[in-house]
Amino acid sequence: MKAIVVTDQAAGTAGMTLVERPEPPAAINDVVVEVHASGFVPTEMAWPSTWTDRRDRDRTPSIPGHELAGVVTALGYGTTGLSVGQRVFGLADWYRDGTLAEYVAIEARNLAPLPGEVDFTVGASLPISGLTAWQGLFQLGHLQAGQSVLAHGAAGAVGTMVTQLAREFGAYVIGTGRAADRQKALDFGAQEFVDLDNDALEDVGGIDLVFDVIGGDIQKRSAGLIRAGGTLVPGRPRRGPPTA
Ligand SMILES: NC(=O)c1ccc[n+]([C@@H]2O[C@H](COP(=O)([O-])OP(=O)(O)OC[C@H]3O[C@@H](n4cnc5c(N)ncnc54)[C@H](OP(=O)(O)O)[C@@H]3O)[C@@H](O)[C@H]2O)c1
Repeated sequence: MKAIVVTDQAAGTAGMTLVERPEPPAAINDVVVEVHASGFVPTEMAWPSTWTDRRDRDRTPSIPGHELAGVVTALGYGTTGLSVGQRVFGLADWYRDGTLAEYVAIEARNLAPLPGEVDFTVGASLPISGLTAWQGLFQLGHLQAGQSVLAHGAAGAVGTMVTQLAREFGAYVIGTGRAADRQKALDFGAQEFVDLDNDALEDVGGIDLVFDVIGGDIQKRSAGLIRAGGTLVPGRPRRGPPTA
């Protein structure tokens, strides 16, 4: 099969090379998926899991990419819940060969059925941003219907998912971003929009849950908008030591 591999961390994305690789076999509980669409995060080049297995042994040349949508072509011994020919989407293991390939072997538990009306490209774009939004809103934030959500960066990859999921769940969503983001955020379901360059963020108050993907000063100012007992979910990886 054709696959994109990386062998040299220092080369970054410039080191990505298209090569021929053997098709992966389906191990116990695995599914082999013919990849129709795949998602790749450029920062994967800095993730230790791109270069090593779980025991920290070198696993290069490794295939990057973790989001995928495609069709099941084989089932490993013991695999249940999915069938050959089924449309699926999901998130491949950080420590195994990924989805920038024609086929990927992946544990069945990391896949879900892809409804027929959802494009493969849409399916492959959902897992990381969708799970980030889901975990922040429901697992960390314990969002309840009727609560208010301040969704920073509401026109972005995570923010559009936060906005849609929170709104679908019955929350009142206030999106933020730049002036040019207003219509997109409203189209994705935000009931109000705060232009962070021109509007006063402090005019918004009594927020139950702030979902922050911006950080820095915006995050600090947002903390003061949360009502007693509310939650601030930082959706942005922290770089360097904590500052507060
Ligand atoms: N994408 C994911 O699946 C994912 C998963 C986990 C964590 N994260 C983290 O979440 C953060 C956001 O990622 P993303 O993929 O959602 O990025 P994105 O698609 O670029 O969205 C961020 C949005 O916030 C806006 N924004 C940023 N700073 C702003 C500011 N100071 N004032 C007003 N608007 C501002 C951006 O506008 P401009 O483009 O105009 O700056 C953009 O519309 C990153 O730190 C990322 O590492 C992302």
